[in-house]
Amino acid sequence: MHATDTELNPHKKWPREDCSRVPLWVYTDKDNYRSELERIFYGPFWHFVGIDTEVPNTGDFKRATIGERTVLMTRTETGEISVLQNNCAHRGVELCQAKFGHQKEIMCPYHQWTYDLKGELMGVPFRRGIKGKGGFPADFDMKEHGLRVLKVENINGAVFASFDHSVPPMEEYLGDENYFYLKRIFNGRKVKVLGYQRQRIKGDWKLYMENIKDPYHASLLHVFLISFGLYRIDQKGVTITDERTRSHNVFASVRNTGEATGTMEMKSYRPDYTLNDMRLVKAAPEYNDEITIQIQTIFPDLVLQQQDNSLQLRYVIPMGPNEFELLWTYFGYEDDDEETTMRRLRQANLTGPSGFVSVDDTEVLEYSCAGIQANPGNTAVLELGGRGAAPPEDGNMVTEGPIRGFYEYYRTIMYGDQD
Ligand code: FES
Ligand SMILES: [Fe+2]
Repeated sequence: MHATDTELNPHKKWPREDCSRVPLWVYTDKDNYRSELERIFYGPFWHFVGIDTEVPNTGDFKRATIGERTVLMTRTETGEISVLQNNCAHRGVELCQAKFGHQKEIMCPYHQWTYDLKGELMGVPFRRGIKGKGGFPADFDMKEHGLRVLKVENINGAVFASFDHSVPPMEEYLGDENYFYLKRIFNGRKVKVLGYQRQRIKGDWKLYMENIKDPYHASLLHVFLISFGLYRIDQKGVTITDERTRSHNVFASVRNTGEATGTMEMKSYRPDYTLNDMRLVKAAPEYNDEITIQIQTIFPDLVLQQQDNSLQLRYVIPMGPNEFELLWTYFGYEDDDEETTMRRLRQANLTGPSGFVSVDDTEVLEYSCAGIQANPGNTAVLELGGRGAAPPEDGNMVTEGPIRGFYEYYRTIMYGDQD
């Protein structure tokens, strides 16, 4: 049985006009999840598919995922990147299963329809039948049966794609400040991938994006961050939110070398802790500013992080309302010296599935999932820093404003709320 209109428009059940309350069913409801796939993952939004140096030569491809669909990021004969839906135009078969590969043309394993690297249909077996019998109708037009081509933008090596060609250019999509911070890392130096990690986490995909937009927990949950001064809520830093959507944001801050304040409230603060190898938390400045942590969320599903010298992308792949996959891509630059690469790899131990910091998040997200699954009628409270989504006037990080901003935009997309 299908839901009624009122049920399909569940924002009526959001407890407040503002987003200081989030009903927990948004993390568990299957219809809501299907609607997210259509509206957000296949709608006019950008999704990260890869680094262009992952496909250096004509014919190289990488299989990536957007929502529940797989796509192929391919280097074409003209040197451009194309992103094609990995889905045969004949009867819907997934064309490639390999995560990476090289091919001059894309051939479906089922009936061997063959496409070029831009997705155009080039060959159909038995098109004219056998000895004049069978075959496709005379007016069968190969041009009408190519692969679905996604819109692509390559920001100095970071490749984004969208199923919906009406998506605005990245600069407009992100707004000036967020675009600036994306290009602070993707700054024109050729990017080199250093490695990947993947993990599955029980919980709705939005919980992960909330977690990254939440400096509140970072100062309280993570023993490692606060005890070694890598991040504390009292440190010098700013919260930046884009004006158009209020759903992309950056926390940029400088490592705290002085005394910590507010430590009475930070039960995880352990000033006596030390490491046998302190190189793990020793950084070498490398950009023309003081920023030691930049954490950027790009709506809907990407995180770009500089944690000292560790550079990484985290990309969220939803797998139903109660599970997601997190794909980590660690990178540096092709002209890095060996010591710099080692430093990046060493510091990468802070993050990832077993990272000294990230492991806390994985654990607590699974607790979130358990609590939410059992109580979908309850409501989350988001009032730190007020009830609106505007960034704090002094840019401080003591706020849940970016999470409220995410949900204001989310409601507009999902249910047509107007500002
Ligand atoms: S499904 Fe791909 S060729 Fe038939
Ligand atoms: Fe965290």
